[in-house]
Amino acid sequence: MKTKEEIGYMREAGRILYSCHQHIKQWMVPGITTAEINERVEEFLAEHGATPEQKGYKGYPYATCASVNEVICHGFPNHEALASGDVVTIDMVVNKDGWLADSAWTYAIDEPGRSIRKLMKRTEKALYRAIAQAIPGNTLGDIGNAIERTARLYRYGIVKPLIGHGIGQYIHEPPNVLPYGKRRTGMLLTEGMVITIEPIFTKGSSGAVVWDEDGWTVRTLDGSWGVQYEHTVAITNEGPLILTGGT
Ligand code: MF3
Ligand code: CO
Repeated sequence: MKTKEEIGYMREAGRILYSCHQHIKQWMVPGITTAEINERVEEFLAEHGATPEQKGYKGYPYATCASVNEVICHGFPNHEALASGDVVTIDMVVNKDGWLADSAWTYAIDEPGRSIRKLMKRTEKALYRAIAQAIPGNTLGDIGNAIERTARLYRYGIVKPLIGHGIGQYIHEPPNVLPYGKRRTGMLLTEGMVITIEPIFTKGSSGAVVWDEDGWTVRTLDGSWGVQYEHTVAITNEGPLILTGGT
């Protein structure tokens, strides 16, 4: 549970993170590498008096996770040039004065295929439908169910092992925020909770994934591409407050 003042600090971290994502969007042109993006993110955060919380977290070596095409999360930034039609998810946690915000977004290089464009739109839609459920009196099951129903509607796979979480002065705080669930079940949402909501959908039906030997990189088992949209959201009596949404 966070006070209004603490949520205010997290909002500052969230504002920096949002504006960093706005820059990243501009950098997404053919030929750029995820290592270059990672480097620019580090510079951006330093210029804004913030630090990349993921770097060194449980031994994760980089400021950002950069997950390309069938890599769906925790990919390492690397020196391969991105090409027209690729999609890349950039995920990061920003620390500003000890308070955190977490947001991932999937970007396309030029125009990806029609079915990937739809996957992107609909996964983002699942995020916002879930956020709409993030109000006092609802439950974590209501959030998960909004994601699950959206995936079902379009017959996408939900990557179930990767879940949202509470966040504050630590990246992962209770509770777990599952991307599936039953309405009116699970923990009751109350004012002052701050959570991440972070659905990952794939075009494959199962959303099954495997971990690479580096212990981090997660890719789909069937090679289908995945996309992810994540915001940090505070539960307030005035409604869901998106801390990483640029407001
Ligand atoms: N941003 C991630 C999340 O949504 C955390 C990544 S784990 C790290 O939970 F090790 F890469 F930092
Ligand atoms: Co997260």
